[in-house]
Amino acid sequence: MLDNRDVNDAVRPADPTPPASSSTTDGTGPRTRPRTGSRLYPRVTSFRSRRGALTPNQQKSWDRTWPLIGREVADEPLDADTWFGRPAPLVIEIGCGTGTATAEMAQAEPHLNLIGIEVYQPGLAQLVQRIERDEIGNIRLLRGDAVDVLENMIAPGSLTGVRVFFPDPWPKARHHKRRLLQPATVALIADRLRPGGVLHVATDHADYAEHIAAVGAEEPLLVGLNETTGGVSAQHRESAPIGFERPVTKFESKAHRAGSAINEFIWGKIE
Ligand SMILES: C[S@@+](CC[C@H](N)C(=O)[O-])C[C@H]1O[C@@H](n2cnc3c(N)ncnc32)[C@H](O)[C@@H]1O
Repeated sequence: MLDNRDVNDAVRPADPTPPASSSTTDGTGPRTRPRTGSRLYPRVTSFRSRRGALTPNQQKSWDRTWPLIGREVADEPLDADTWFGRPAPLVIEIGCGTGTATAEMAQAEPHLNLIGIEVYQPGLAQLVQRIERDEIGNIRLLRGDAVDVLENMIAPGSLTGVRVFFPDPWPKARHHKRRLLQPATVALIADRLRPGGVLHVATDHADYAEHIAAVGAEEPLLVGLNETTGGVSAQHRESAPIGFERPVTKFESKAHRAGSAINEFIWGKIE
C-alpha cells in the first residue's frame, strides 16, 4: 500500500523547497483545517498515485494548450479574473476526471468561469483535447490536490459554486480517512463559498452517501437546497447561481448499469 509520502510525491515530484508560510488559511477562520498539506508534513490524501502516458495526439494537444489554460497547483493566491481574462462568477469542480461533465456544464453555462481540478494527467489531457476541439473559452485547469487549492489559492467567500461528482469512495473502513468529504474539508469549502454559493455533490456509493449526508448536515454554514439535504429543490432551482442539472458521465453510466443508486446533495451557503 502507498504511504502518504508516495501519494503526495506523485503530484509534487521534484520541488524540495519548503512552502512559503500559509497566507490564506491562517487567521481566516477558526474551523479551516490545519496546515498539514505542505511538503514538510504530507497529509493523507483523497487520491491514489496513478501514472498514465498520454497518447501522441494528447501530448501534442497538451503542449499547445496546457500553457494557455492549465497550471500546477501552487501555494499562491489565484487571480481568477485575470487568468480567465474577464470577471465572472467562479465555480470549481474537484476531481474532474476526464472532464465530460466539466465541458458540458461549461458550454451550458457560458456566463460562469469554471476551474477543473484533477491530479490525474491523462484525465486532464482528454479534457484539454475537448476544450480545443469545441473551442470552450470558460474552463481553466489546475493539476494537483484540490485541498491545497482551497487552502492556498482561493480566498474566503469567493466561490459561487463547488462541484464534487463521484469522489473516490474509499470503501474499506481503514481507508475512510482518505475520503475527501470530511468535516474539515466541507468546512473549508463552505468558508470559500460566497453567501448563496452552492455545493453540489453526487455519489453512487451508498455508505459514502450516508457519510456525506451526515457531514453536510453538521456544517453550520450550509443549508439544504434539494430533497436529499432536507430542502425543496423547486424553491431554489431557478434562483440558484449555478445549475442543478448534471450530464451523465461514462463513470455514472457504469454505476447505473451496476444498479447503484445515485445520491445527489445540493447545499447553499447561508446568506
Ligand atoms: C471516481 S473519479 C470521478 C471523476 C469525475 N468526477 C466523474 O464523475 O467522472 C474521482 C476523481 O477525483 C480525483 N481526485 C481525488 N481526490 C482529489 C483531490 N484531492 N484533488 C484533485 N483530484 C482528486 C481522482 O484523481 C479521480 O480522477
